[in-house]
Amino acid sequence: MAFRMAFGSELTRQHAATTIIESCIELGPHAQRGSITTVSWQKSPRARMNDDASKLSAQQPGDARAAFLAAMRKVAATISLVTTRENGSAHGMTATAISSLSADPPAILVCIKRSASIHGPLCRVKWFCVNLLGEQHEALFKEFTARQGAGRFAVGEWADGPNRLPCLTDATATLICYLDQQVDYGTHTICIARVDSVTLAGSPRPLLYQDGGSGGFAPLRRDAPAPGWTLGNIIYPVGDMPRAIAFYRDVVGLKLKFQDGNEWAAFDFLGTTLALEHRVMDDEAAHRIKVGLKVSHDLEALVDKLSRSGATVAPIRRGAHERTTTLTDPDGNRTMLYAPLSRSEA
Ligand SMILES: Cc1cc2nc3c(=O)[nH]c(=O)nc-3n(C[C@H](O)[C@H](O)[C@H](O)COP(=O)(O)O)c2cc1C
Repeated sequence: MAFRMAFGSELTRQHAATTIIESCIELGPHAQRGSITTVSWQKSPRARMNDDASKLSAQQPGDARAAFLAAMRKVAATISLVTTRENGSAHGMTATAISSLSADPPAILVCIKRSASIHGPLCRVKWFCVNLLGEQHEALFKEFTARQGAGRFAVGEWADGPNRLPCLTDATATLICYLDQQVDYGTHTICIARVDSVTLAGSPRPLLYQDGGSGGFAPLRRDAPAPGWTLGNIIYPVGDMPRAIAFYRDVVGLKLKFQDGNEWAAFDFLGTTLALEHRVMDDEAAHRIKVGLKVSHDLEALVDKLSRSGATVAPIRRGAHERTTTLTDPDGNRTMLYAPLSRSEA
């Protein structure tokens, strides 16, 4: 469900212009100190700001320019399709150099290369549309970018918005903008635009451009809260302990770590423990493999919680080295829960 919001407030021209000039100073390339690779221009960013931008590019050593471009390839940005219409003709451009400028008034910056075909029409008409793309638009992005002129609008679903601006019907956000001020810098024009209205569509997943390719955004995986237990061992029921030990030790080649008569044996099994438990194999349940979870927190509290939630948990038994219980799931699979005794308990 899309919704649209319109902003009526006036853009404070002086404030917006000051902000953009300061941003350019701050963003100027600069030398980095330390053990990392440093590539620097000869002049300070502020000194360069006073220079003519075209002279500047001629003074940049090639490696510094390459380093700048390499740094910019690390920047990820949402891909947008900027559109306008002049005398009935639609113009469009793929853009990532778009930035939020202020919320009061709602305003953005769009940096447009002066040689781009949209530059003239947009600067004359002043009204333009920023269509933010989502992950589902990857094919559209590639097609739109590869095409020229009006052919760009032959892909995707476009409708006329305010002032007949071409609006992508399923853009994740559509911003109708009015070019309020422009600052030429180097090869580009920084367009300071008042955002007149916004339409939001469902998809929250932006289509990003980074290092020459497009892709999606995924939040970093947060560490799962400590579960309070770790995999202790995998327990196989065996009917004949000596025969089972001989099989896993001599045939499979596992290292025997522990043996308790004919009742238990434990093998090192790829970093975990394969335990053999002697069972009288006269019922179906005895044939099931179990998993042993070593509980690092309060075993009683865990058992209490599991029992109250309706799980089947046997009473805790206290052995020579540990306290154990068995959790049985609704399908009859059993998990052994055990907590080693502390020194004082043992
Ligand atoms: C992912 C991507 C992002 C781009 N971002 C910008 C941008 O922010 N500003 C710009 O002037 N050009 C940008 N370009 C380049 C323009 O899309 C392209 O130069 C422009 O459409 C000129 O083509 P035309 O003159 O054939 O219309 C970008 C291109 C791509 C592929």
